[in-house]
Amino acid sequence: MTRKLKPVVKVSDELKKMLNDAIAIEIAASVQYMWQYVQVIGTKGVAVAGKFKETAIAEMKQAEEIAERLWYLNGTPTTQLAPIKVGENLKEFLEIDTKIEEEGIRLYKRIINQAQKEGDITTAFMVKKILEVEEEHHDLFTTMLEEI
Ligand SMILES: [Fe+2]
Repeated sequence: MTRKLKPVVKVSDELKKMLNDAIAIEIAASVQYMWQYVQVIGTKGVAVAGKFKETAIAEMKQAEEIAERLWYLNGTPTTQLAPIKVGENLKEFLEIDTKIEEEGIRLYKRIINQAQKEGDITTAFMVKKILEVEEEHHDLFTTMLEEI
C-alpha cells in the first residue's frame, strides 16, 4: 500500500515506534543469521547451515512487511538496528538466536495489544501472522539447541 496524506487508519506515535523497534530487531536478526550461515563450522554446523540462511531471509521479508505497513501509516522505517551478535560456535549461535526470537515474541505481543487498542485491526492481524512465524523460529532454534 502506498503512503497517504490522510491514511484511513491513524495510529499513535507509540505504535509507530513499536513497529520500528520490530524492524530494528528483524533486520538485526536477519544479518545475524546470515553471518552465522557464512561462519558456521563443524559437521553439525554444516548440517544445519541452510536453516540459518532460510531464517535470515524470512526475517528480512518480515522487516519489509512491517516497513510497508509503517510507511502506509505515515511512519518512516528506521535504519538503526538492534545489536547484532554472531557468536563463536554453533551452541552460542543458537543461544543468541533464541534470545532475539524471545525479544521479538514479547514485542509482537505488545504490538498486537496496542494495535487492537487503537482499532488498527490490520496491523494486529499482520503482526499475529508474524508472531506465528517467530514462534516457529524459536521452536527451531530451541530444538536445534537440544540436539547439540
Ligand atoms: Fe524470527
